[in-house]
Amino acid sequence: MNDTPLKGLPPRVTVVEVGPRDGLQNEKGVIATADKIRFIDLLSEAGFPVIEATSFVSPRAIPQLADAAEVMAGITRRPGVRYTALVPNAKGMERALAAGLREVAVFTGASESFVQHNINMSIAGSIESFRPVLAMAREAGVRVRGYISTAFGCPYEGVVAPEAVKRVAGALLEIGVEELSIGDTIGVATPNQVVEVTGALAPLAGIERLAMHFHDTRGTALANVMTALQLGVAIFDSAAGGLGGCPYAPGASGNLATEDLLYLLSGLDVETGVDLEKVVAASAFLARARGQAPASRYYAAATAER
Ligand code: HMG
Ligand code: MG
Repeated sequence: MNDTPLKGLPPRVTVVEVGPRDGLQNEKGVIATADKIRFIDLLSEAGFPVIEATSFVSPRAIPQLADAAEVMAGITRRPGVRYTALVPNAKGMERALAAGLREVAVFTGASESFVQHNINMSIAGSIESFRPVLAMAREAGVRVRGYISTAFGCPYEGVVAPEAVKRVAGALLEIGVEELSIGDTIGVATPNQVVEVTGALAPLAGIERLAMHFHDTRGTALANVMTALQLGVAIFDSAAGGLGGCPYAPGASGNLATEDLLYLLSGLDVETGVDLEKVVAASAFLARARGQAPASRYYAAATAER
């Protein structure tokens, strides 16, 4: 255990870097495949345990990630890093397996309208669409994570009840997902909700299988992380430079910036194995490719000092 004044935090946290997927999926300008590959390679060098590299979704839904196979073929897979990608259906799973993925993520949500807009299915329909994905994964020995979007609030329906999240979590666990990532898709959550949702899910899934996926739209992401840590959550998603958003969630600005998350965790003496300065270097590279400064507060402070 760590020996800091704040007791009882997990000594080690798994940071899932989602910038190349959640970050880039919303990017208006075309990012060259070679730049995506370089970005992922720089992130691999920073020591992330998990990198969500792309999505095997319909290229019409997310044109920016239509080069998923080329990206996976081009990156240098660093030993010890788990590379993963979003998969909505059997077709996506076939593409992911062909690209050599050993881990994938299916994604649904806790509110009907969001799921309908995002993947053109009902929540129940999404679970049905995932069944063959899970069967293929079992056969190939591939690990599957399940995302639950709009777990705290929905752009179409407003506040979402923890009971709704619990129902979807139960259905995902029942079909065999190994980890649940609880998404604050539009960045509305506050710590009281984190306590309620975590309290509803922990007895069902086990705290060690829960990941939190915060967007920082209203500046509450790190407060939510702190609360989740105190409850024992030890897996957090974030995006280098605070990239991101969801094209089917109006107003969903960036993900929690990885640099800001790492700064907090290192100050709390929580280990991650990730080199913060190498993440800054990866964000600097992508900022040049995008022609836009990263949203990360730590990045702004660190680069201003240079
Ligand atoms: P659809 O149009 O209802 O499905 O889309 P369809 O089965 O009728 O297919 C339409 C066309 O897409 C067909 O092509 C299919 O072959 C093709 P056509 O015959 O017309 O030429 N197609 C595919 N092509 C490649 N790969 C595939 C695939 N599937 C179908 N896997 C579908 C339904 C789910 C496919 C579509 O809506 C989709 O791909 N949606 C993805 C949306 C998305 O990626 N959203 C962002 C990610 S979620 C998120 O950001 C939240 C998260 O970060 C957590 C949080 O913050 O809350 C995870
Ligand atoms: Mg997201």
